[in-house]
Amino acid sequence: MTLDIMIENGIIVTANGMFKANLAIDEGKIVGITKNTVFEKCDLHIDAKRKLILPGGIDTHTHFEFDFMGEKIRETWHQGTTSAAFGGTTTVVDFSVQKKGRPLMKTIETDVSRADALSAIDFSVHGCFTDFSNPEKILKEMKQIVDFGVASFKEFMIYKKQGWCIDDWNLYNILLKAAELNAIVGVHAENASIGESYMDKLVEEGKTSAKYHPVSKPNFVEAEAIQRAIILAENTGSKLYIVHMSTKEGLELVCNARKRGLPVYAETCPHYLTLTDETYARTDAINYICSPPLRKNEDIDALWKGLAAGSISIVGSDHVAFTSEQKKEHSKAFTDVPNGIAGVEARLPILYSEGVRKGRISLQRLVQISSTNASKLLGIYPKKGVIAPGSDADIVIFDPDTRKTLSADSFHMGTDYSIYEGLEVRGYPVVVLSKGKVIIEDGQYLGEAGDGSFLQRKLSEEEVATFEELDV
Ligand code: URP
Ligand code: ZN
Ligand code: ZN
Repeated sequence: MTLDIMIENGIIVTANGMFKANLAIDEGKIVGITKNTVFEKCDLHIDAKRKLILPGGIDTHTHFEFDFMGEKIRETWHQGTTSAAFGGTTTVVDFSVQKKGRPLMKTIETDVSRADALSAIDFSVHGCFTDFSNPEKILKEMKQIVDFGVASFKEFMIYKKQGWCIDDWNLYNILLKAAELNAIVGVHAENASIGESYMDKLVEEGKTSAKYHPVSKPNFVEAEAIQRAIILAENTGSKLYIVHMSTKEGLELVCNARKRGLPVYAETCPHYLTLTDETYARTDAINYICSPPLRKNEDIDALWKGLAAGSISIVGSDHVAFTSEQKKEHSKAFTDVPNGIAGVEARLPILYSEGVRKGRISLQRLVQISSTNASKLLGIYPKKGVIAPGSDADIVIFDPDTRKTLSADSFHMGTDYSIYEGLEVRGYPVVVLSKGKVIIEDGQYLGEAGDGSFLQRKLSEEEVATFEELDV
């Protein structure tokens, strides 16, 4: 038998341990892990000496080709997913946001067929309802969406002005239905009434510059919404996923819920782990406007501790690649600047360099929060998120010693600036395989648009239950 690929002499890192071994790959799958070179005949030998072999990253939070706050992202699905691959991510879960008056299922079908043609890596979407004029219709559609293979929803507890904000009654009913269908509901947790009224008040007072962005949404704005979402989820039996959590107060609420045995899971993002609200004093502060806003060092410390302890399960990028021109176009008041930060390519390097290298998380934890937990929680395990025979050969060969200065010029994302400009990292992906095909090597992209496929997801109670044995 002749195999397609052998990756030799590397250190395989999994969610549970690490060991030196060779990895055999055939027809897109991992077919063997061995300490001896028993698979001698193969088309391609890759020497991974002194390199780490990680399961391909899973980014649970991207917004490719997003249309938001008066601007459409110019980066295409292909460019976005190619840059994801450069950064060691081989699966993304994007957001299909319902258009008012149109079934969400239609948006999902349109988004999936576009991504199918363009994506460099495998993908899925979360479904986001925004039209609450016919609640009965939503509940009916949820079953159709779950049957289609989209087992997760995300609802916005803010963005009233965008017409996306859900009220508590609709959220409660969506949670109830999700519990029945074994789906998970993500929430963008910010108190809309306080956050958006505060924004209006500041603008009325002439306080329009970006430094007022964090003032409009103090930590309790996030914490209150998290608390409310937890209470609603608890009373419905639904699994709850707090997306892009940014505060120490939010973390405490999630910890308490988890201590009580509730299926509450939190995601944070690299920018909440690295940058503070002092950034909003910069001259280019509008480029850093995202929601929730960047916080304080004490929040950063708490989030890293929460990640290490198991209270925060996942790190997603919340990738939104607006250009500086698009941000500037709406910069008369901070409230109008399209929200979001590009970071899909930086997620894994930041987690390794700022997390593992600085002793904040272990290598096993890195694998859990960047890959394995997402595959278990979102219903793609063991196809994705694990290095084991039978799993897709989505592999990152990671050089722990590569030094790199992060810069918009060397990233491949569709933006002209980077929030990490000048940050020195140590450790970087050098070869990336998606389904057994080398798509990144020597700084070159070797794949094609449409290599990626839609992943049908179905949640498994058993898998969800197994990944958080660390915890609080
Ligand atoms: O600022 C952000 N996060 N923009 C993207 C939309 C969202 O809230 O996830
Ligand atoms: Zn959000
Ligand atoms: Zn987002």
